[in-house]
Parts: sequence; structure tokens; C-alpha cells
Amino acid sequence: MDREDIAAAVQVLRHGGLVAFPTETVYGLGADASNTDAVKKIYAAKGRPRNHPLIVHLATAEEVDRWARDVPEAARRLARRYWPGPLTLILQSAAHVNDLVTGGQETIALRVPSHPIAQALLTQFGGGIAAPSANRYGRVSATMAEHVRAEFGAAVDCVVDGGPCDVGIESTIVDVSGSEPALLRPGSITSIDIEALLGRSLAPAKPGSPRAPGTVPKHYAPQTPLMLLEPDLLVELASSMTRQGHRVAVLARSARHPLLTGLTWIAAPESAAEYAHDLYSNLRALDRAGCSAILVEEPPPEAAWAAVHDRLTRAAAGSAIPDAT
Ligand code: TXA
Ligand code: MG
Repeated sequence: MDREDIAAAVQVLRHGGLVAFPTETVYGLGADASNTDAVKKIYAAKGRPRNHPLIVHLATAEEVDRWARDVPEAARRLARRYWPGPLTLILQSAAHVNDLVTGGQETIALRVPSHPIAQALLTQFGGGIAAPSANRYGRVSATMAEHVRAEFGAAVDCVVDGGPCDVGIESTIVDVSGSEPALLRPGSITSIDIEALLGRSLAPAKPGSPRAPGTVPKHYAPQTPLMLLEPDLLVELASSMTRQGHRVAVLARSARHPLLTGLTWIAAPESAAEYAHDLYSNLRALDRAGCSAILVEEPPPEAAWAAVHDRLTRAAAGSAIPDAT
């Protein structure tokens, strides 16, 4: 990664093209947030419904007032503590912001990412970059440049390769646009961290409003049906499925059970942060294994695992597993 790559990516953005770039959470699929035609290309490439809003990425917190109005003290405090970093704030949108970016809502999602490549790109571009996660609608997010290429091929003008993303799952989203701050999407910055900083509890997201596709039941999903199971049930189901001739993929939290053979088995890291870091790569690897199902061992119930739980529950939503009655 060198300065010429960033300069080339900036040129693509200036000409209304799409640039996939690394952030500390996941790769983003970026376009000039002030260019309607460029933003339309994001929706087309992702196959995302037009009324699902995008996050505008900014180089510094000072730019917030160009994109949002009536920014409350709670938002300033969160921004001072967590920006640059894996936090997205929902604020009242400034009047000039394109409806395609906000999905026609009164609010806008803003984030100042910390990844040095994202920072360099934003600083040199000098404007806001609208960027959803760089994956097709409903699918698993991309945490490596090769994931982006596998998702989009030539539909993206430029992929800036920054290696694997540090956090591995999408930013925490906090809605500070109304009277009560609400957690719309859990992430590596936990609700406990945010409640401690704000000195008040967060409301849960209200179903349906505002729209957030990352919060629809079926999301972050591999193509292979996926099921979340307690360890004993997982072993039972895996053995009965293999006996019936199915190939089975497992995302476990321990080494392979001695009685199980013929499975594609990944033992995930023990800590929540490392588990999240590897999550999407692991799901992609298991999805490619040509199995009838991906069986995932339930992670621990503690708050540190809330974001991982959220992504796995959405990845599992609506899956039908053969013989899993
Ligand atoms: O970590 C991340 O947040 C990554 C990186 C690239 O920054 N981006 C990301 O974008 O995950 P996306 O589009 O996949 O998810 C953004 C979520 C969506 O669920 C979207 O609906 C929600 O943010 N969102 C955007 N604008 C909103 C708004 N005005 N009100 C409520 N939710 C909003
Ligand atoms: Mg996404």
C-alpha cells in the first residue's frame, strides 16, 4: 500500500467511481457522498434497496456540523471519546444531504474511521465518503480485499488492499437524533461502555424505524444454511447428518470432538475480540466447503459477546437445516 494507490483511489472518487477501502471494522464500498450518480452505483453494485440509508465517513469530527444539525451534547461526548473509531452516530441530517444517502429519512449516519488508509483517503479526498459494508445485500461482510473482489469483481473500480481488518465486525450504531439515545447495532464498543460514558441507559432499537438493513432478521448470511447450537446438540446433529451422507461444516469453540469424522471443522478463537476478528473469514471459508449446513456453537452469553451473538443470530435467521427437526 503506498501513496500512489491512495492518489489513484481519490481520482476514482472524484470521477464518480466506486472505491472499496479498508476500515478498522470491515471493508467499505465507497463513493462521493455529494455525487448522486456515484451513490446510485453503490445501490446497484450491492443490490441494496434504495430506501436503506448509508453511513457517511468523515476524516475528522470537526466535519460533523457540515452533515448534521442540532448535534446534542451526548453525540459530542461520544465523538470525543470514540472517534476516530468503530462507532457510527445517527444525527439529524443537514438540509443539503442527498435523499439517496439518508434513504429519505430526516437523519444521517456519520462515522470517523481510524484505519490509516481510510484516514488518508478521506483527508486527501476532502469530502464525505458514503460507504456501506463491501458485500452484496444480506451477505457476509468483507474483512479482506480478496473478499471484496470475490463479491464484486469488475463492478468496483478500485480495491485498496489494507490486509485484514482489525475489528472484523461492523461499527456500533448509536441513535442520538432523538430525546433518548438508542443502540441500533451492537459492536466492539459495547452498550456498557456507552452507558458508562453517557451516564444513562440506552434504549433498545424500535422495530422498523429508523430503517437499518443490518437490523433486519436475515442478514450477514452465508449461502449455506446456518444453525446456532449448544455444544451437545451440535455434536448430536453433526453425527446424525454425517451418518445420513451430508457434508457438515462446524464453527466450534473447541477442538474437534474425538467421535466426529469427515467434517469441515474450524475451532474459533476464545476471546470475543479475536472471535469477531475472524468471524466473517471463517463463515466464508465454511460457506465454500460445499456442505449442507454450517453448525455454529453458541458463544458465551456475556455482554462482550453481544455483537457476535447479533451477527450469528441474523446469519441463522430463516435457515432450514436438513434433518434438523
Ligand atoms: O463498520 C461499519 O459501520 C461499516 C464500515 C464500512 O464503516 N459500514 C457498514 O455499513 O456496516 P452498512 O451500510 O452495511 O450498515 C450501516 C447501517 C445500516 O444498517 C443502515 O441502515 C444504518 O446503518 N443506517 C444508515 N443510516 C441510518 C439512519 N439515518 N438511521 C438509521 N440507521 C441508519
Ligand atoms: Mg452491511
